[in-house]
Amino acid sequence: MSLDIRPDSLLVSFYAKRTPGGIRRICFKNLFLKQCRSSGVKIFMQIAIDGPAGAGKSSVAKEVARKLGLKCLDTGAMYRAITLQALSEGIDLNDDQLLGELARRCQLEIKIDDQMDTLIYLGGEDVTEKIRDPEINQHVSIVARSPALRKELVFLQRKIAGENNGIIMEGRDIGSNVLVDADYKIFLDASPEERARRRWLEIKEKGRAVNFENILKEIANRDRLDRSRKEAPLKIAPGAEIIDTTACNLAEVVEKVLIIVQGMDCRD
Ligand code: DC
Repeated sequence: MSLDIRPDSLLVSFYAKRTPGGIRRICFKNLFLKQCRSSGVKIFMQIAIDGPAGAGKSSVAKEVARKLGLKCLDTGAMYRAITLQALSEGIDLNDDQLLGELARRCQLEIKIDDQMDTLIYLGGEDVTEKIRDPEINQHVSIVARSPALRKELVFLQRKIAGENNGIIMEGRDIGSNVLVDADYKIFLDASPEERARRRWLEIKEKGRAVNFENILKEIANRDRLDRSRKEAPLKIAPGAEIIDTTACNLAEVVEKVLIIVQGMDCRD
């Protein structure tokens, strides 16, 4: 079946039923969405996931996308790609105009593979790994302040959303700026120490030597830059559901997101 439905076009109604555990809310909209999925009807659903560095956005977004059969775009990877290109060309990272111009001419290509990983190509070269280098981590929040650059990348992000029947997009300004009409907005957060601990473990598992205090400082610095910039700063979008992931593992956070999106707490 090729019927596409936007969840906000559905009539939403609720009733409460008494159960041994208390009152349980039944959401018809969410039951309907589940029914559509199991019958193979495609749902045109946009989910915005925002939050600070290390809050678990990428892993959560990819897992939820796989479960819901949606595409998933990591928008941070796009800012990282421009940072890589700017560094390799020796461009002044504070020059708004030059960064905007670089974004227009740098032959940035974005692909989403079957695992929901965002693959990045610059001038035909696969730079998906390179954009995760520590040097990029250090500079990306400075580059991401540029309004001219953001205008170009937001245009691309909206184009990608428009080309896909349903998408999960994760970043800093998705719910507040890129997809203001997203069906669901989620803000993932965690304490700076926990976010630094996760990054520290990730790097250690790759066999690299790393100092925890340095990672904590870098996270704090990126938080400050991302939250304080003038253009589309990191903030909680109106209507967003906040999930504190400090004490949760990946499966628990994925479950919380699915409850918000599908009302899986409605299961009897
Ligand atoms: O999610 P990440 O760490 O890969 O993001 C890298 C940087 O890109 C982050 O420090 C801020 C910026 N960014 C942004 O400004 N807006 C987005 N939508 C995504 C990322």
